[in-house]
Amino acid sequence: MGKVRQSRFLAKKRLIATIALSMLVMLTVVLLMLLGLGIFSLPMSGDNSSSYDLSSYRRMASKRGRGLGNRGDQWAEVLSWEPRAFLYHNFLSKEECEYLIKIAKPLMKKSSVVDSKTGKSKDSRVRTSSGMFLRRGQDKIISDIEKRIAEYSFMPVEHGEGLQVLHYEVGQKYDPHFDYFLDTFNIRKGGQRMATMLMYLTDVEEGGETIFPSAKGNVSNVPWWDELSKCGKKGLAVKPKMGNALLFWSMKPDATVDPSSLHGGCPVIKGNKWSSTKWMHVNEY
Ligand SMILES: *[C@@H]1O[C@H](CO)[C@@H](O)[C@H](O)[C@H]1NC(C)=O
Repeated sequence: MGKVRQSRFLAKKRLIATIALSMLVMLTVVLLMLLGLGIFSLPMSGDNSSSYDLSSYRRMASKRGRGLGNRGDQWAEVLSWEPRAFLYHNFLSKEECEYLIKIAKPLMKKSSVVDSKTGKSKDSRVRTSSGMFLRRGQDKIISDIEKRIAEYSFMPVEHGEGLQVLHYEVGQKYDPHFDYFLDTFNIRKGGQRMATMLMYLTDVEEGGETIFPSAKGNVSNVPWWDELSKCGKKGLAVKPKMGNALLFWSMKPDATVDPSSLHGGCPVIKGNKWSSTKWMHVNEY
């Protein structure tokens, strides 16, 4: 009796072991299939997989151009090679322009300029606009715009300062100046300013042009010459148009500063000028 019960017990044990083993085998097979199909992946050593993984770049690129609203037809225009200046038409949508103005409006302060001796902000008569800074990546709409700026300027997002939003009313202007710094204080963070993306958030009925007084070439040879204000005729001029963006470089291709990048904002004669600026540095900012 004792022997029969024992062998029955052993058979039962063997059966359980067989079931457990076959389940383990099946689980392994399923796991291998999932791995093979790429549905499930083992974590790899992280640091080299993301930055040079072109498949993830493809996914990013397919999201390109997204953002608020419809931007319509986009095209680029070479304005000048000295300074290097390019105009991107319909860079921002109307909705994006209106959004930037809406979030900046309650926070506008009288603009200052950076003191080249102390690095501190100071009031100025050469710059009479009002403005404010947004935080980099402050929200989805802003980070979409910043990604677009990076793609069109070939400068990584991390090299940019936060967007500045500016407002010029009738009579307000910004006298010609350089965006690069002539002191060492201001280049401690991120190094020299290398490029600027200046986005126009509104049309301006009269005046408010961006001018490059030291641009090489025949500045009267632009199709919009007759529409320019007296100030606008003092250099290569860009008329503000909602959604357009002006990219120019404060440094030459040899990485020295470019004095031909001298530029200013002409006084607004009629209307209101809203713009937004992204300064990009040599290093991460
Ligand atoms: C500059 O361009 C304008 C318009 O095309 C032309 O009338 C003028 O003669 C040009 N000036 C020079 C110095 O080439």
